Amino acid sequence: RRFSTSAMRAEAIKCVTVIGGGQMGAGIAQVAATTGHQVVIVDQSEDILNKSKASIHKSLQRVAKKKFADDAKAGEAFISEAIDRVSIQTDATNAVGNADLVVEAIVENLEVKRQLFTILDKAAPQHTIFASNTSSLPIKDIAESTQRMDRFGGLHFFNPVPVMKLLEVVRIPQTSDETFNKLLAFGKNLQKTTVNCKDTPGFIVNRLLVPYMVEAVRLLERGDASTRDIDTAMKLGAGYPMGPFELCDYVGLDTMKFILDVEWLTLRPTMQAAGVSITEVVHHLYNTALTKMKRFMPNIIFLDSLDQ
Ligand code: NAI
Repeated sequence: RRFSTSAMRAEAIKCVTVIGGGQMGAGIAQVAATTGHQVVIVDQSEDILNKSKASIHKSLQRVAKKKFADDAKAGEAFISEAIDRVSIQTDATNAVGNADLVVEAIVENLEVKRQLFTILDKAAPQHTIFASNTSSLPIKDIAESTQRMDRFGGLHFFNPVPVMKLLEVVRIPQTSDETFNKLLAFGKNLQKTTVNCKDTPGFIVNRLLVPYMVEAVRLLERGDASTRDIDTAMKLGAGYPMGPFELCDYVGLDTMKFILDVEWLTLRPTMQAAGVSITEVVHHLYNTALTKMKRFMPNIIFLDSLDQ
């Protein structure tokens, strides 16, 4: 039996505030509640929050149906205990007063996330750990809006949160060992399998998955194969449970676009280091496109380059 002092127990993450009650936030709140944590969900309106709670209720019913197939009473108790642990709030500053951990799952926009954390940093107790569920933004850029970079990290969940077993736990250079260990312990308490990763674009999964999905779009754009055939090929030929287009739809095309925009931005420092400017790349792409267009549309007069 492992020794644990009351001080260590007192430090464990018990109260979790989830900011953003959308697809991911509702899932994170649900899993935290079913594993015994007190949860507050914050979103922009009561209306959104009620929808969020309703979606948790629905999802819990699905879980209970499977988990307590032969014991409806136990299933109902499981649902009501979890629901009772979840409260809702529209005021983020009020919602973090008791939090051991804040998990942010709002819109994928750096400025909006930074504004939120600047406010939370002033309102939350000293010991509160902050984590972002961002898919594509550097954790460092978000953490810099606070005075607690040692108590900041990434908790990257996968959709749907109650089903997907993986949690990427991300550290920036400033993340303290204590914070990182607490985040790992929290992940284990949620019954997720955790993997450790540095603050690198796309972390592990998206770094490999996004280029694959983009390549599928290029294959389609060139007219090499249809969406249906590309999906079928990857399911039956590579054993993937979903094809790349089904996966794009599942993640959401808006989220995909955000991720790609950020990937383009992260390319910028590399190009600058190589002495190539964005303008040069755009000119190059434009001129290449122009050459092709001229070949196909010889009767149209084109300006010869962007400079003219
Ligand atoms: P979503 O659009 O379903 O939910 C976002 C929620 O945040 C909305 O309910 C919105 O009203 C709320 N919100 C926006 N600004 C807010 C603010 N300032 N204060 C409080 N609430 C605010 O988005 P989703 O898919 O849940 O994504 C949330 C985050 O999770 C993003 O950072 C995304 O990159 C990340 N993520 C998404 C995954 C996915 O598969 N959809 C997977 C892993 C991470």
